[in-house]
Amino acid sequence: MDNMADTSINQVRQLFDNAPYPQIPLEASPKNDSALLYIHNIITPEYLRNQRVINTEGKVILDAGCGTGYKSLILAEANPGAKIVGVDISEKSIELAKERLRYHGFETAEFYCLSIEDLPTLDWKFDYINNDEVLYVVPDPIAALQAMKSVLKPEGIIRTNYHSSKQRYPYFQIQEFLKKMGVMDTEPQELAVELARATMRALQEQVFVKETTWKPTFETDDQRVLMNCLIRGDRGYNISEMFSALRNVDLEFISMVNWRQWELSNLFKEPDNLPVFLAMSLSETSTEERLYLFELLHPVHRLLDLWCGYPAQAKPFVPVAEWTHSDWQVAKVHLHPQVRTPAVKENLVTSITQMKPFEISQHLCLTDSAVSLDSSVAVCLLPLLEKPQPMMSLVKRWQQIRPVNPVTLEPVSESETFQMVQHLLTWLESIGYVLLESQL
Ligand SMILES: C[S@@+](CC[C@H](N)C(=O)[O-])C[C@H]1O[C@@H](n2cnc3c(N)ncnc32)[C@H](O)[C@@H]1O
Repeated sequence: MDNMADTSINQVRQLFDNAPYPQIPLEASPKNDSALLYIHNIITPEYLRNQRVINTEGKVILDAGCGTGYKSLILAEANPGAKIVGVDISEKSIELAKERLRYHGFETAEFYCLSIEDLPTLDWKFDYINNDEVLYVVPDPIAALQAMKSVLKPEGIIRTNYHSSKQRYPYFQIQEFLKKMGVMDTEPQELAVELARATMRALQEQVFVKETTWKPTFETDDQRVLMNCLIRGDRGYNISEMFSALRNVDLEFISMVNWRQWELSNLFKEPDNLPVFLAMSLSETSTEERLYLFELLHPVHRLLDLWCGYPAQAKPFVPVAEWTHSDWQVAKVHLHPQVRTPAVKENLVTSITQMKPFEISQHLCLTDSAVSLDSSVAVCLLPLLEKPQPMMSLVKRWQQIRPVNPVTLEPVSESETFQMVQHLLTWLESIGYVLLESQL
């Protein structure tokens, strides 16, 4: 479904000047939203791409299509010392974004009323470009991607996203229906929203588009109606189209932003016990094919949300699961900065002193289920809250704390301790809390 042809950049500007997005109060802070900070922290995609931990100090970050600047604020909070630049075609949105960042003390952030297509006129090159919830309203998404690439530093990373054509399908249907009824072109916008509501109220409850799209919040929240039912030029992509768009502008896919929610094996009851033909076929699939297969079976994600960058810029590395003993011996261990907070420390110390499980997912939720550590294990993580540690110093610490086997009271050897620490870190790295750098 594509009603882009008749949508101009001026219509998009008008929509967002009338209803700047998002409508989040100026005082609202994302400081406690650790999951949002985690995906906006540029350390996260950099580690996925290169298995290295960078310093955010001095990095230059663009929020392309920043709207009222809430995501710009998240970027500023998540990346201490980084310079934030925002652009948007809506003058009204830019004013609000400036005000928001100033209010929260980020005086050096800069905002420009500029279209993404005109980015090359800005005298900046960026380490990271955040382009969230924008491409699906841009008349020419390929040109927009090309323009962002032209202002990206060679090792830089772009986060962008498309609406999923499969998940979003009923919304495209209702948009088309309202367009045919003339509601899409009704002015002012408030009247169009009321006409959309009147249409939906008039429909029987079990009518497909009503049942699948119309949420109770749409009755009171004008912006949700505008962004879902009355948005002009809304366009969907599937996984193959997303990869072709990247190939079109010669950008390389790095990862889905919510990569854990795109894991094909998680769709099966027993991933390690699949019918042989299926296990064999799946073992030979590329990343692109696996995402495509996932989407065929479970098209539940509204956004195809991804990180990409210039081709051939990734630094080759050995995945942690394949590390040798020598890699481990000289490894540097980091806690992800989004869990290196005073609140985590306080909770960890309480868990240790009261001998209660330490539920790390309470502070940063990265998986569907809760992640908790026995306090006798969690105690070994304490120094990581201060600074990164060499693997061997965590092994020594574990040996000091647990010198004997609690069942047999036999002394625990260094190699046994090493294995226990390695096991713990492998698990915490696989779910994203710990970052491991090989020093070899
Ligand atoms: C749905 S809002 C998203 C705002 C923000 N990125 C967020 O996620 O909160 C889309 C924004 O993109 C802006 N936009 C659309 N087309 C643009 C273009 N070609 N150049 C710059 N900004 C654009 C709109 O003005 C609007 O503020």
